[in-house]
Amino acid sequence: MVQTKGKKMPDIIEFCDNWLFRNGFEQSWATSALTGAETVSFPHNAVELPFDYFDETIYQRRFTYQKHIAWCDGFTGQEVSLRFDGVMADAKVYIDGIFVGGHSDGYTPFEIRLTEHLNRDGILLTISIDGSENPEIPPFGGQIDYLTYAGVYREVWLKIAPAVSILNVKIEPYQVLEPLKSLQVFCHLSNPQAQELHQTELLATITAPDGTRVAQQRIVVSDDCPKLTFSGLENILLWSPDAPNLYRLELTLQCTGVTDILSRMFGFRTAEFAADGFRLNGKKLKLLGLNRHQSFPYSGYALGRSAQEEDAEILKFDLACNVVRTSHYPQSTWFLDHCDRIGLLVLEEIPGWQHIGGAKWKDEAVANVRRMIERDWNHPSVILWGVRINESPDDDALYERTNRLAHELDTTRQTGGIRKHTGSNLLEDVYTFNDFILGDEERPGSNRARTALRGQNEVTGLTHKVPYLITEHNGHMYPTKAGDQEQRQIEHVTRHLEIMDAAFGDDHIAGCIGWCMYDYNTHKDFGSGDRVCHHGVMTMYREPKFAAYAYASQGAPENKVILKPVTHWARGERNIGGTLPLMILTNCDYVQLRFASGAVLDLYPDQKRFAHLPHPPVMLNSEDLVGSELGKWGMQWHDIEFAGYVGGKQVVHLKMVADPVATRLNVSANRRQRDAQASEVRISVQAVDQVGNTLPFFSDPVRFEVHGPGSLTGPATRSLRAGATACWIKTYGDPGSISVTVSCDRLPDITLNLG
Ligand code: GAL
Repeated sequence: MVQTKGKKMPDIIEFCDNWLFRNGFEQSWATSALTGAETVSFPHNAVELPFDYFDETIYQRRFTYQKHIAWCDGFTGQEVSLRFDGVMADAKVYIDGIFVGGHSDGYTPFEIRLTEHLNRDGILLTISIDGSENPEIPPFGGQIDYLTYAGVYREVWLKIAPAVSILNVKIEPYQVLEPLKSLQVFCHLSNPQAQELHQTELLATITAPDGTRVAQQRIVVSDDCPKLTFSGLENILLWSPDAPNLYRLELTLQCTGVTDILSRMFGFRTAEFAADGFRLNGKKLKLLGLNRHQSFPYSGYALGRSAQEEDAEILKFDLACNVVRTSHYPQSTWFLDHCDRIGLLVLEEIPGWQHIGGAKWKDEAVANVRRMIERDWNHPSVILWGVRINESPDDDALYERTNRLAHELDTTRQTGGIRKHTGSNLLEDVYTFNDFILGDEERPGSNRARTALRGQNEVTGLTHKVPYLITEHNGHMYPTKAGDQEQRQIEHVTRHLEIMDAAFGDDHIAGCIGWCMYDYNTHKDFGSGDRVCHHGVMTMYREPKFAAYAYASQGAPENKVILKPVTHWARGERNIGGTLPLMILTNCDYVQLRFASGAVLDLYPDQKRFAHLPHPPVMLNSEDLVGSELGKWGMQWHDIEFAGYVGGKQVVHLKMVADPVATRLNVSANRRQRDAQASEVRISVQAVDQVGNTLPFFSDPVRFEVHGPGSLTGPATRSLRAGATACWIKTYGDPGSISVTVSCDRLPDITLNLG
């Protein structure tokens, strides 16, 4: 609790530890201390599911959380509330047995005011949650192709604020008069005791990314919605994926001698979808990205800041994406904050999947538009609001409401609404479409030739072009497991490349967002029967499949050089044998193949087949090797080397051996180990051969042992899948003092010190 010279400052305190938790809920439990409970911390997953083949109804029931909140002198004269960032779902909150409020949506935050209930004996706070898929609440009521889990799965905060405080602020670059030189700031005060606002002042300070003050303004406040305009701002650094410049707005409210401070990051940028594509800050940018669910194996939704941030980094730095769609709901603000910081664009949408419920359900869906936008309107990364239920049928009355509200709340962003049916009424600014035409030629009775993407006019049913974005492709049209046969994986890669190529080649397509970043747990009605949709370009563990490199290789080699032959380099893995045609995903100018015979072959990107991609793959076809024994059945199999060249210089080299032998475990920690405040660190493990390549079919079990201030999520022993696995270690202190030992009967133990 911060107190300076008698003036009370606001406090927001993490309130995540030492909660009691129990299966079930009965009204009487809310009146006295829970018995038979365990002590847990948030984020918390009510039921840890196995990796696959589980009964997904086991978390679909009620659970109880409880905490005694002792009186604290700092509460005196203050407004005290609890903020829940995300509770799945249908939270009902009781104080000393009395119902005081609730929130049915599982993806947006809510606050419970404690002020009037606090007393010197303390209060007993009980939360009941309901993991059953209540058909009254989006996204439930129909089938959904993902799991929603159960629990208080994001953080909880105790907020201690003055009687009059700043509840929220919207910072809008004011584009009408002086684009990107002016700002409008709309504040929303909280004044539950209806205090007189005489002599109330608001000071607004804008600080540049380097910490220098850009502008300051003081106004007298006369109502709960004070507004300020800044104009004539000079030397503004724009926000973009290449230069994610973030400014800070600090608001200081002075009311009857008491101060409240709120500070928010924001960026100056314009984002516009037009019929001829997408422009950021007036410059054309082809959007290329992936859909992301917010789930993790074993932990469900319940991992914290570091795991969320890492996903954003994987998308941007490992997969070279410039956009992500938060399918199909508002995701953690840790994730969005990081998208702002690293420069990853976001399409965010309301919760739902194909099904539209009754009147009450629809009201909730409209309320979700408000909750999403009011939570996230200051994120420069967010460039489009998705205001339809994903892939739902047209419902003009509903979607006129969602669009109207989105535009009322936010005049700077356009709307989209994701559909998969053609000829849908365009009530949004952007026709956002899931195009699953590639692969449709395999449907019995189809007489369509293989087509990467449908023509826009065929989809919209309009005769003119409109702003248009592909929001999903591939996915269930070609599910591919990390351990699938090489040929299937080549086809998986090819389909992603073909669609990207088509999107790059058409100025009327703003971009394409593939399905999806990683595999995810799902209901029995979807996936491979194992409760997993193997639709990702990565596994659930964030281990890349070959298709991940289809994306990664589109990035600039200055950022990361990619050289990934789509092969395990084995004689008999493919049907009939051999490795031809060989596809090499790369952003190098050319790739040199060095054969064991001493022969070398320079291969260049296949611009004929993929004319529009920034970096087409390199192909080795049988005609390039006339007379060669490569791949012929019964011939001796040899090692090979690949070298990638950029600007005439070798920048990468890779060897693949003809006789891979399980040699060691490769154990590494993700970038988070360097973050002293990390909430989780991901440890990834691969079984590798004598030259360090992953052994794709090695499936022996490995054991994790964690020493120091951390705990393992999921089981300690697990089989490798496609030669790899990973785990997230929750940290309770500096990750630098954690060490992890990974052992496997056939290979030497590896101990990794995170420090
Ligand atoms: C889409 C849907 C996604 C996912 C995907 C699989 O129809 O929007 O949530 O199910 O199919 O390809």
